[in-house]
Amino acid sequence: MAIPELGVALHSGRDDIDGQHRLMFEAARKVLAVDSARPDLLIKAVRFLQAYVHYHFRAEEHVMVATDYDRREHHMRQHALIRKEVEEIRAALVAGGAVGPLIARVQVLFQDWYVFHIREVDVPLAVHLRAHSEATAQAIGLPTSSELVATGRLAPEYDGIELPGYPGDLPR
Ligand SMILES: [Fe+2]
Ligand SMILES: [Fe+2]
Repeated sequence: MAIPELGVALHSGRDDIDGQHRLMFEAARKVLAVDSARPDLLIKAVRFLQAYVHYHFRAEEHVMVATDYDRREHHMRQHALIRKEVEEIRAALVAGGAVGPLIARVQVLFQDWYVFHIREVDVPLAVHLRAHSEATAQAIGLPTSSELVATGRLAPEYDGIELPGYPGDLPR
């Protein structure tokens, strides 16, 4: 079993959200592709994944608040669960936990939980954002990491995480 490609059923219709999901799934596949004899590379890959998930959730949460989305509490609770899982995986790897079961948790998270999350809550969020744009004649996009850092909603170490060439030398 592999982490799925994001097929049409998992497209939200928004390039910003879909682009970030694609990058996140790629980051998860990279975790699975690391040679298990290289825990240093594995930790690096998981750390990037964890940081990217953190940024993506903050970005979605920002537009939910900015547009007064009525389902935001439910959506944010799901984010909190996924964030907790990926943070636990990272912490366990850094603490020297057995690699196999931790990699399996990454796989389940992206094969199952995250696919469900996109279908059940991210696609409806995109529908809401479209309706909001039409009603207000104002388009709203996901903020960049720099914008979130500048307003204190994201720690400086995440600045630029969504950009190609992000150095990725995040603290563990
Ligand atoms: Fe979400
Ligand atoms: Fe999302």
